[in-house]
Amino acid sequence: MSEKRIKIAAPTGKMGVLLIGLGAVSTTFIAGVEAIKKGLGKPIGSLTQMGTVRLGKRTEKRIPKIAEVVPLAGMDDLVFAAWDIFEDDAYAAATNSGVLEASLLQEVKTELEAIRPRKAVFDPRYVTRLHGTHLKKGKTKWDLAQQLVDEIQQFQKEKHLDRMVMIWCGSTEVFIERKEVHQSIEKLEAGMKNNDENIPSSMIYAFAALQLGIPFANGAPNLTVDIPAFSQLAEANQVPVCGKDFKTGQTLMKTILAPGLKARLLGLSGWFSTNILGNRDGEVLDDPESFKTKEESKLSVLEHILQPDVYPELYGNFYHKVRINYYPPRKDNKEGWDNIDIVGWLGYPMQIKVNFLCRDSILAAPLVLDLVLFLDLAKRAGMVGIQEWLSFYFKSPMTLPELYPEHDLTIQLMKLKNTLRYMGGEEQITHLGLDYYQ
Ligand SMILES: NC(=O)c1ccc[n+]([C@@H]2O[C@H](COP(=O)([O-])OP(=O)(O)OC[C@H]3O[C@@H](n4cnc5c(N)ncnc54)[C@H](O)[C@@H]3O)[C@@H](O)[C@H]2O)c1
Repeated sequence: MSEKRIKIAAPTGKMGVLLIGLGAVSTTFIAGVEAIKKGLGKPIGSLTQMGTVRLGKRTEKRIPKIAEVVPLAGMDDLVFAAWDIFEDDAYAAATNSGVLEASLLQEVKTELEAIRPRKAVFDPRYVTRLHGTHLKKGKTKWDLAQQLVDEIQQFQKEKHLDRMVMIWCGSTEVFIERKEVHQSIEKLEAGMKNNDENIPSSMIYAFAALQLGIPFANGAPNLTVDIPAFSQLAEANQVPVCGKDFKTGQTLMKTILAPGLKARLLGLSGWFSTNILGNRDGEVLDDPESFKTKEESKLSVLEHILQPDVYPELYGNFYHKVRINYYPPRKDNKEGWDNIDIVGWLGYPMQIKVNFLCRDSILAAPLVLDLVLFLDLAKRAGMVGIQEWLSFYFKSPMTLPELYPEHDLTIQLMKLKNTLRYMGGEEQITHLGLDYYQ
């Protein structure tokens, strides 16, 4: 151990998990946590539960679990609250989502039924395919934010919570670009009071969280917390934030495959990705405006990994298309096809086909758990603003405006683990390794 361990407050007491949207991902996450607590399943896919970090030299053979390197909250410490535009409790919502089988849900029915969503801040202009009735009323967006603040404070008091984390697992909102109203906290507050149309519902939740010093993660591709006004508020209130858009399914595969092709300097002439999916997320994404938000998020990945400006001969002119088709019979079990046209020695073409039969929410649930626990860790460690080390979990990682995002999964993992080593007061690993041989 060479560096000084940074000061991290202990994870004492209970922690509130504020889930915005009680749909497929949220309920698969909650049901999973309750099932794992009862020994009915394993937290597969979660770094905080199963991951390790190698420490020191390879000859030392020190490979502890992540939770032994940094102080993480336990699953028993989590207390859930949710908001949704529909009244269904978590048991009914999980049943409707059809991700987990009825026999498993039966085992955690009592815990799920106890989670009843609070009324949502929602405006159908931002998610046009949904028409919920379980909604808050308020004259202005500012009023709605204050209602959320009161509700969250009350929840904290009732449940005797030490701290909280908020995570957006709500539907994908329509595409919104950064505008003047997003540029400073004063402008955003004024905009909320004037019901500015560039402030969608997700920003109202983010505002309430940051006002209360609660870390915020964004699992969807909406801008939400990724605007200068929220960077300022996060800084002022000492809050960590991260986003956007959980990296699951097809994009996960893309960020595994593309770095491999680039590592071997194999060229790319085209990458066609198509999906069929039949859950509510698929229905929302059937709306061109919501799809546009998602498309932006999915498309940027290859550009950043392959660096066409650095390798114009290999990646200067590839065709990239992403399609999502709503197909109800498939429910949450998305099927994705990728056709990848690559180019080798002397320009000879080759093809790779990927057919991924995945389960969207099964892939997303462990990410929710990790993000909740890591954001709480970041807060206790005094880490403020954008948490780039959590890029590993996102399709469109947030960064400072002057930085480009890192999409390569292996680099993201290295960054995440080096951050954990830093927090644990351990030496960074450079993979140079010459000293073993000299
Ligand atoms: N499942 C994945 O693998 C994955 C991957 C990346 C991103 N995402 C994103 O995560 C989000 C959740 O996915 P899901 O499959 O659970 O979708 P879902 O449709 O099952 O659940 C979303 C829930 O959010 C609710 N909602 C919408 N607007 C709301 C608001 N303003 N306030 C409160 N609740 C609101 C909806 O009523 C719905 O119950 C989506 O935006 C999706 O695009 C999911």
